[in-house]
Amino acid sequence: MKDKEEIIKNINKLKEEKNAIILAHNYQPKEIQKIADFLGDSLELCIKAKETDADIIVFCGVDFMAETAKILNPDKKVLMPEIEGTQCPMAHQLPPDIIKEYREKYPDTPLVVYVNTTAETKALADITCTSANADKVVNSLDAETVLFGPDNNLAYYVQKRTNKKIIPIPIGGGCYVHKKFTLEDLKRVKEKYPNAIVLIHPECNPELQDNADYIASTSGMLKIVLNSDEKEFIIGTEVGMIDRIELELEKIGEKKVLIPLREDAICNEMKKITLQKIEKSLLEEIYEIKLDKDIIKRAKVAIERMLNIKG
Ligand code: 13P
Ligand code: SF4
Repeated sequence: MKDKEEIIKNINKLKEEKNAIILAHNYQPKEIQKIADFLGDSLELCIKAKETDADIIVFCGVDFMAETAKILNPDKKVLMPEIEGTQCPMAHQLPPDIIKEYREKYPDTPLVVYVNTTAETKALADITCTSANADKVVNSLDAETVLFGPDNNLAYYVQKRTNKKIIPIPIGGGCYVHKKFTLEDLKRVKEKYPNAIVLIHPECNPELQDNADYIASTSGMLKIVLNSDEKEFIIGTEVGMIDRIELELEKIGEKKVLIPLREDAICNEMKKITLQKIEKSLLEEIYEIKLDKDIIKRAKVAIERMLNIKG
């Protein structure tokens, strides 16, 4: 068994030899966060994937994120160090047959899909959005009514920030990790930390959003903590976000109290990647993301429309 230091050394050597870059989502295990070339939320990862001049992108996250990197870089090799069990369940809640049903029912209504969707679904959408820009995307559309899916909680967040009518599809769509949080959780944690600032991800249930100090994407949360004079924060999202914020605080030698809204808010699909798997992935160039050319072409239009929204 090689030790950790040796594996990291080899990863760095392989990265250089192959002109590869490691992109990782904010929920990745801390040891992966520490070696990533770039860490971010879904929007930042899209932008980075579009800008990189690396030949190989090793994507540490879940399936839809690696697919998005491939769609934006069809000529590059995009690898996921693990493909077993790295499928975001929400990303599979709005398949083409359900879209067809709603398209028939609302023929002239634009469809906005969360980036947490498959490439096939993105190819059928008018535009994509992330948790960082969903309201901006919807408000940019020239329509009174908008189909929005698959996250019903993100749809609620957008509805509060637009005069357009949002139709959430499919009924019940959402993230199993974020749906766990309840008002009771918030009350319990608030009793212990009455002065803590409450940060809630827009994938959380409406009652949590309604009681938040801030609702933000994962990187939005990071910015709030770093820019605030406050010392205590309740983190209403996946627990990996605490590692991510701590990592940035360590870099600037600051200490703040970060309290998870629930210790068991764990995205299993995000935790399947290890340092060993990254090393193997770089060495053997596995597991390569392969998508149909026509799907790439159409999905790219929906993603680029989002990236081109100004302001
Ligand atoms: P962010 O884009 O805010 O990082 O969210 C991605 C995600 O999957 C949250 O569950
Ligand atoms: Fe998907 Fe939820 Fe995991 Fe985010 S936290 S990747 S939405 S399952």
